[in-house]
Amino acid sequence: MTDRLTIRRPDDWHVHLRDGAMLAHVAKYTAAQFARAIIMPNLSPPVTTAEEGAAYRDRIRAATPGMDFTPLIVAYLTDASDPDQMARGHGEGVFTAAKLYPAHATTGSAHGVTDIAKIMPVLERMAEIGMPLLIHGEVTDHDVDIFDREAVFIERTLKGLVRDLPTLKIVFEHITTSEAVDFVMSAPANVAATITPQHLHINRNAMLVGGIRPHAYCLPVAKREQHRLAVRAAAVSGSPKFFLGTDSAPHAVHTKEAACGCAGIFNAPYALESYVAVFDEEDALDRFEGFASEHGPNFYGLPLNGGTITLERGETVVPERCGEVVPFHAGETLGWRLV
Ligand code: NCD
Ligand code: ZN
Repeated sequence: MTDRLTIRRPDDWHVHLRDGAMLAHVAKYTAAQFARAIIMPNLSPPVTTAEEGAAYRDRIRAATPGMDFTPLIVAYLTDASDPDQMARGHGEGVFTAAKLYPAHATTGSAHGVTDIAKIMPVLERMAEIGMPLLIHGEVTDHDVDIFDREAVFIERTLKGLVRDLPTLKIVFEHITTSEAVDFVMSAPANVAATITPQHLHINRNAMLVGGIRPHAYCLPVAKREQHRLAVRAAAVSGSPKFFLGTDSAPHAVHTKEAACGCAGIFNAPYALESYVAVFDEEDALDRFEGFASEHGPNFYGLPLNGGTITLERGETVVPERCGEVVPFHAGETLGWRLV
């Protein structure tokens, strides 16, 4: 039995660090676990210009003083996004990627894209310059059941996009269904996916059995057990198409425990301990380094990190609260700890 695991320093390819007081509170958790992180741009207002991106990067650096952590900034796509400005932001090294939020799909997506046809010139330019497109893959049509929105997005939007722009690098973010796993597996090498810890650990029962549990609610919402198992199999498969992206999304406790609670799970403080427990349960500890530290940079075309971290078997007691935010696994004890 492996009791200690030393791996190359990992990265988080999808995290929400927010801004202001929340940024000051949460950034250090991510910086303590990861060398780099893809920082989601759904602030209010969203990060759309290179100037805003550079200023946000500076605020993140200020919130992680003395820590060896590199924030990778992402542009938020809107109907008004401009190909030249996008290319300039990428060329200047501010924007690592751009994020597509279908309008009103999730928290902070009100300024998102209403019709993908409107941003085709931007996506064509991104394909030319090798700038990855990160996608929140859910339709927003009111007639589509919330548990079906990811699978329907594949049929209505993603298949056509991959066909029409065959060289565009696409990350299908936070996949939650067997349909998404199958799609990514059978797509060409320019299509990959991130996987969160919560979608490896919980199915929709965690949210709804024995009372409604707002801290298990995020978007895309957790699905049936068969989907959790498919996502788990993908994560531990060793396929370079799947990599770590926590989607850590902090919301103050009173905004989650409310009549209309916010979507988002805050998993940053113990993300690695949470993921490694899954790889251990699946007898796949030897594949954790690929998922956490190699597949992501290889897909983005970025160098692997130097240095290592070590995880060892042992108790990690997750507190009920981290400040005003309830963490994922609150009150539980995880079987691994970060040395
Ligand atoms: C995210 C947030 O709160 O910003 N919420 C979530 O449930 N994942 C937005 C998102 O990534 O969908
Ligand atoms: Zn997210």
